[in-house]
Amino acid sequence: MKIGIIGYGSTGKMFLEKFLNSKCVSAENLLVANRTIEKIMHLKDKCTVCESNPELATEADIVFLCVRPVDMKEVLLEIKEYLKKDALLVSLNGSILLEQIEQICNNKIAKVIPSVTAEVNQAQTLVCYNERVTEKDKEYLTKLFSSMGMMIELPEQEMGMGAELVSCMPGFIAAIFQEICASAKKHTTLSEKQIVQMVLHTMVGTGMLMIDKEYSFEDVISRVATKGGITEVGTKVIHEQFPKVADEVFEKTMEKRRQTTIKAKESFEGTR
Ligand SMILES: NC(=O)c1ccc[n+]([C@@H]2O[C@H](COP(=O)([O-])OP(=O)(O)OC[C@H]3O[C@@H](n4cnc5c(N)ncnc54)[C@H](OP(=O)(O)O)[C@@H]3O)[C@@H](O)[C@H]2O)c1
Repeated sequence: MKIGIIGYGSTGKMFLEKFLNSKCVSAENLLVANRTIEKIMHLKDKCTVCESNPELATEADIVFLCVRPVDMKEVLLEIKEYLKKDALLVSLNGSILLEQIEQICNNKIAKVIPSVTAEVNQAQTLVCYNERVTEKDKEYLTKLFSSMGMMIELPEQEMGMGAELVSCMPGFIAAIFQEICASAKKHTTLSEKQIVQMVLHTMVGTGMLMIDKEYSFEDVISRVATKGGITEVGTKVIHEQFPKVADEVFEKTMEKRRQTTIKAKESFEGTR
């Protein structure tokens, strides 16, 4: 099985490292192509460097399209004549629909939403498939991604909210706790570094506690917030004021998602 990665940016680079480390694929069966070829020349000892996208498409059984949405159509048009009939195309973009890719390449297609947490093997990688993808393909992709964490199959129409919850969420969590740490700093002589470390370890520990003990959020709160105590004062403020922020986050992100889906649809119109 030959695996090709088109685009050696943030995700392409992460996939290449992870696939190599997983030992699911050998160096000669792992192919990479990038628009700026100079960026991948140093990979010659690690994998097979292709000089063009068609060269990669001719060889690969699975092609990962690790390019930005604006470059996707061009790449699909470039490779469509060269793809193996049975090749599985993997798109990483939440805004581009499977049917839009099918308009150009009538292949087996998967849409995979990665998360930066794959870097520490804690990803929940989301996936949906078009009808041509076989159970064997699904099994192989699941095995390939198991080195990064778990894979979750969703219906295509739920990939948007799924992406908010696993792919955008590291950014949301970082932003929330950045504010918490900045606020804590105003009330203490502890260093910023120490505050951040304390909060980070508490976040990880709270997550592990909830998963291991199957605690709900209420369970954790009731374990910590004794009646009339200090934690209760803090959780009351959060419950009173945070819902407005949380609602606005999802209203705005889902609207942005709707707009990017329309834009992607427009950019694919007239392609067949
Ligand atoms: N980053 C994330 O955490 C993340 C999470 C979820 C989903 N995604 C999705 O993953 C996809 C890739 O995102 P990214 O963050 O990896 O993008 P990126 O860092 O900007 O990398 C894109 C890469 O694609 C290459 N490229 C562009 N046009 C090309 C072409 N015609 N042929 C070959 N290579 C080409 C670029 O080459 P140059 O070196 O010439 O610029 C660049 O190396 C996007 O659809 C994004 O929505 C990313």
